[in-house]
Amino acid sequence: MMAVLDVDQIREDFPILSTKINGKPLVFLDSASTSQKPRQVIDAVKDYYETYNSNIHRGLYQISMKSTDAYVNSKELAAKFINAESYRNIIYCRNTTDAINIAALSYAEPKIKSGDHILITDMEHHSNIVPWLMLAKRKKAFLDHTALVEKSFVDMDDFKKKLEKKPKVVAFTHASNVLGTINDVKLMTKLAHDAGATVLVDAAQTVPHMKVDVKDIGCDFMAFSSHKMLGPSGIGVLYGKEDILEETTPAIVGSDMIRSVTFESAEWNELPWKFESGTPNIEGAIGFGAAISYLNKIGIEKVRSHEVEMLKYALKRFEEVKVMKLYGPGIKSVDRRGGVISFNISGAHPHDVSTIFDTEGIAIRAGHHCAMPLVVGVLDEAAVSRISFYLYNKQDEIDKAIDAIDKVRRVLKLDKR
Ligand code: ALA
Repeated sequence: MMAVLDVDQIREDFPILSTKINGKPLVFLDSASTSQKPRQVIDAVKDYYETYNSNIHRGLYQISMKSTDAYVNSKELAAKFINAESYRNIIYCRNTTDAINIAALSYAEPKIKSGDHILITDMEHHSNIVPWLMLAKRKKAFLDHTALVEKSFVDMDDFKKKLEKKPKVVAFTHASNVLGTINDVKLMTKLAHDAGATVLVDAAQTVPHMKVDVKDIGCDFMAFSSHKMLGPSGIGVLYGKEDILEETTPAIVGSDMIRSVTFESAEWNELPWKFESGTPNIEGAIGFGAAISYLNKIGIEKVRSHEVEMLKYALKRFEEVKVMKLYGPGIKSVDRRGGVISFNISGAHPHDVSTIFDTEGIAIRAGHHCAMPLVVGVLDEAAVSRISFYLYNKQDEIDKAIDAIDKVRRVLKLDKR
């Protein structure tokens, strides 16, 4: 495998990677669920608590000004990371799910009327289904979903056909957390805009792993989470185009998202603060800023190249195992795939697979991956196992996963059945 990153050096920054599980080194292959955190992020949060813990925007004293600056600096880093115009486009919230809910409740709720259409795809996870489903139910609107081809890719003919219904909102994932498929979100955004829709891209699985440029994609909203990109949990981003955010009335109100308030009326603060009611996750934002700085130092393009190399190696090794069923684009389409491989071992339930992997210190995810319409409906499985990589994973960890598959076969006596 071509060495794009100095992974041994990177691993030194992640204290958890020297943890032992069952006396064996932790092999963490579940970064699509949440990532590990480097010392730089842990230290930034610790430093805040130990030296300048204070609320933002409220104090006219030094440590409060310092925390306000650190909070805004984190937003500036987030804006630059996705090539947004400015930090005014960056709304901090809890995570991707929260971000999509804010877009649905604040922006879409007043716009969707009875009989309107909202369009998503069959490869969404629940976070990009349920907020739209509930909205559609409240408004007696229709939630349409685009079919997949080869159980891997968005069926663009079906997408275009569904756009003929003139959906008001079109929401789709940049990369599937189950299939790994990376969608052509620039093209999908253009087609949806041509049909008159507002577009939300769920980028939870791409912003941490590859260069994502909101201006180039052209979407109106984008959602992603800090915890999947080396930062703390409980902090995420809703990006929005400025004119759209300006015209949107926040659904969650109170505290300093207000410019002025009387018993008769309230006026909203300027962007992005009007969407952030109550004291925010300050330590989370500071840790998130440190995470983005860390990724900037490594270079997000290099992270993607490393993951592509890992993917090629893992797919090749997995394809050699006869009892394996793999989901998502094949090895020939690695350029259209993120560092996620879902699989099943014939005759073994994914929960047993995950438990046996754990005896070897290997953490993987098993289940419906919060994407039941995809896993149960499209793939026709009750559950699948999934490995996923990040910048700290090594080739020998794939080898350990292959050995663990052999152990699954031995323990469950699959070859004797
Ligand atoms: N959506 C996250 C995952 O795929 C939680 O694991």
